[in-house]
Amino acid sequence: DGRTLDHAVADLSLATAGRHQIRLAEHEMPGLMALRAEYGDSKPLAAARVAGSLHMTVQTAVLIETLVALGADVRWASCNIFSTQDEAAAAVVVGPEGTVEQPAGVPVYAWKGETLEEYWWCTDRVLAWPGAVGPNMILDDGGDATLLVHKGVEFEKAGAVPATTDDDNEEYRVVLDTLRRSLAEDAGRFTALAAEVKGVTEETTTGVLRLYDRMRDGTLLFPAINVNDSVTKSKFDNTYGTRHSIIDGINRATDVLIGGKVVVVCGYGDVGKGSAESLRGQGARVIVTEIDPINALQAAMDGYQVARLDDVLETADIVITATGNKDVVTAEQIGRMKDKAILGNIGHFDNEIDMAGLARTPGVTRTEIKPQVHEWTFSGTDGAPDRSVIVLSEGRLLNLGNATGHPSFVMSNSFTNQVMAQIELFTKADEYPLGVHVLPKLLDEKVARLHLDALGVRLTELTKAQAEYLGVDVAGPYKTDMYRY
Ligand code: NAI
Repeated sequence: DGRTLDHAVADLSLATAGRHQIRLAEHEMPGLMALRAEYGDSKPLAAARVAGSLHMTVQTAVLIETLVALGADVRWASCNIFSTQDEAAAAVVVGPEGTVEQPAGVPVYAWKGETLEEYWWCTDRVLAWPGAVGPNMILDDGGDATLLVHKGVEFEKAGAVPATTDDDNEEYRVVLDTLRRSLAEDAGRFTALAAEVKGVTEETTTGVLRLYDRMRDGTLLFPAINVNDSVTKSKFDNTYGTRHSIIDGINRATDVLIGGKVVVVCGYGDVGKGSAESLRGQGARVIVTEIDPINALQAAMDGYQVARLDDVLETADIVITATGNKDVVTAEQIGRMKDKAILGNIGHFDNEIDMAGLARTPGVTRTEIKPQVHEWTFSGTDGAPDRSVIVLSEGRLLNLGNATGHPSFVMSNSFTNQVMAQIELFTKADEYPLGVHVLPKLLDEKVARLHLDALGVRLTELTKAQAEYLGVDVAGPYKTDMYRY
């Protein structure tokens, strides 16, 4: 059809709408725009081939086009089946200079509402590089691209993809099928690809956990930068981003009044803190659950009731999981929730709420209210009336499934860390041996600095004498790595 760019998105004709949103987002992403100004000429990412797996939103479009401005060749997939904004995906494919007829942007493989098979196909596509063995950099969110490469190498070494067992969950079966097809075509593809990858920069708590696991068991194949644990990422995006986007998701999905309702937030880490604060701000009576005594005490000090889910479940109008753990709400517990209660997850994966168990529950039926909003009805026994629970985004992260994720300004902080991490790994490989690293604190402080002007913040400067008194440099870094902010 005359198109020059490979891609798979919902509808390229949405590109103009996407471009308008990207243009406005750029205004709200001063960190990324500052990096374009600083590095646009020197192009530190020239010769970088970046495979990205991260929610294909408007904000991510600005990230992608920043990587391109710094010289990188980029391919992109979303890291969640529901999180793509189709207009943003279209605009990135068309590119600022291209047209719908002649796209000239970046190959994107993402659309809102992928099946699991399509999702893993998209992830596989961004790892396939026309004219090269594969990418030489990975930018990951949740670790799915990293997982596909590591599993691919593992199975190539073993000579076969293992047979699927009853213990494998549905998604892992799809991963195995994807790799089985790939290995049948080229039995050495992932081994060759992994050898060229200089490193991965990982966006989120859950993906970082997977990297440390691999480091511990000695299976990590290339160096990694943990972007999540930059202070200007997890203490901002995870908390202030969530504070904005959690109610956005609940409102767009259900439009129920939150004020006065009893809301249970499971987990009081960075995401839980933002969630609880946001819901309390709406006037909800928020109850927190925790397994860690420190976080539980924090929640209590912040004025929340801290309880066990089982003890408060029957009174909750809304239950939100924010733990990054699995089986936090079981199918049996869902069956005990109030009629028309709302259940949603804002952690990375869909196993926080036992959706598989819910689907297997005898007598339960599922009605689609609208995409990403489902009513699960339990038939009443012994003459009791039926009861139903509203589940958001099929148990996947509701702020991206039911709304559009975090707003631009906070994502500018996260993505400025991402771009700097890509530059570090790509240009200073000798400083980042095999392992999981965080960015130097001076760069973390730089990310914050780049966002002060836009908010009218006037920073106080240390005098030389004050700096000496504190034992720091006038230009920073100002805190030790022990400091917790
Ligand atoms: P975190 O580690 O700071 O917090 C998780 C908290 O959950 C911890 O305090 C932990 O003790 C608690 N927890 C674990 N198991 C629990 C259980 N069974 N019951 C109650 N509490 C439990 O992690 P963070 O940064 O808050 O991230 C949480 C999840 O959210 C991760 O999966 C992360 O990848 C994801 N995330 C999602 C975002 C979004 O936009 N939806 C943004 C950033 C992170």
